[in-house]
Amino acid sequence: MKKTPIQPPKIDDSNVDLLLRPRVFEDYVGQETIKRALAVILGAAKQRNEAPDHLLFYGPAGLGKTTLAHLVANELDVEIRETSGPALEKAGDLAAVLTNLEPHDVLFIDEAHRLNKMIEEILYPAMESRKLNIILGKGPAARTISLDLPPFTLIAATTRANLLSNPLRSRFGASFRLDYYFLKDIESILKRSAKILNIAIEDPAVASLAAASRFTPRIANRLLKRSRDFAEMNQVSVIKEETVDKALQLLDIDEFGLEYIDRKFLGLIANQFGGGPVGLNTLSAALGEERGVIEEVYEPYLMKIGFLKRTSSGRVITEAAKEHLAKP
Ligand SMILES: Nc1ncnc2c1ncn2[C@@H]1O[C@H](COP(=O)(O)OP(=O)(O)OP(=O)(O)O)[C@@H](O)[C@H]1O
Ligand SMILES: [Mg+2]
Repeated sequence: MKKTPIQPPKIDDSNVDLLLRPRVFEDYVGQETIKRALAVILGAAKQRNEAPDHLLFYGPAGLGKTTLAHLVANELDVEIRETSGPALEKAGDLAAVLTNLEPHDVLFIDEAHRLNKMIEEILYPAMESRKLNIILGKGPAARTISLDLPPFTLIAATTRANLLSNPLRSRFGASFRLDYYFLKDIESILKRSAKILNIAIEDPAVASLAAASRFTPRIANRLLKRSRDFAEMNQVSVIKEETVDKALQLLDIDEFGLEYIDRKFLGLIANQFGGGPVGLNTLSAALGEERGVIEEVYEPYLMKIGFLKRTSSGRVITEAAKEHLAKP
């Protein structure tokens, strides 16, 4: 049989994502308050040779929660075991994960708002007193055995913090809300990514990308990659502002980073509900989208850029949003 020639590793999009992910705190741009607090927590734990307290990272998608969890493990020089709310279905799933932990490991649970009740109840004693309580048998003959777990740090991440149960939330030693980035931080992230990917890009192009990034590193990196695609297909060697404009146009993303669904949402309030106020339930039905998704995915950014207000009587769109919608 013919041997297939060895291919050089292909830099596809998923490789690129790994390449761009900061490995050390110095490369993690912005979120200064969180970095300062973490430095104290991790530093103190290291001095005492203990596993730090359990940590919760929450906030909109793509702001760097997973990255931060990896940085913590890296900083502590320990392994990170990754799982997620939906992956832990049965008691045995969590028991297997917990009993495999080595002392001081980080256990990372992504999408923590999707943990089911039964799993949460096993997690409580594990977090609090490092006990894994297993129930053997059923009915009157059932008995509980309790296993000691090594010291570990649970890091949970979620985009939907208000869906976490109170008992779970209260068991974290510290909770950090990741916020949208400052434009200058997004610009630094873009420049760092361009350097890693060997992309030549002009400053005004970086500024346009940053403005359309929704203050979100993942989106900034994605738009940079798409601009590179566009430049390559059009034999442009340096990405200029107009290259970015054309790439965004092709993706149907406007200069504020709004996509079709955002404009539909705003347009709905403007045209069908006279600009508001309109209740969340009504909007949810009209848009065919879950309330929680509207509240936690669409609205935060629209409020951040001053296009939407939440009032006691419902959602209202602003003059700025109306002007934007009226543009050709
Ligand atoms: N502070 C940062 N500095 C530089 N790059 C960052 C930073 N935060 C995130 N990124 C980049 O953005 C990408 C997305 O971050 P990450 O996957 O950690 O987000 P997340 O908050 O876990 O998102 P999700 O809620 O969707 O899981 C990372 O791969 C990384 O390249
Ligand atoms: Mg993540």
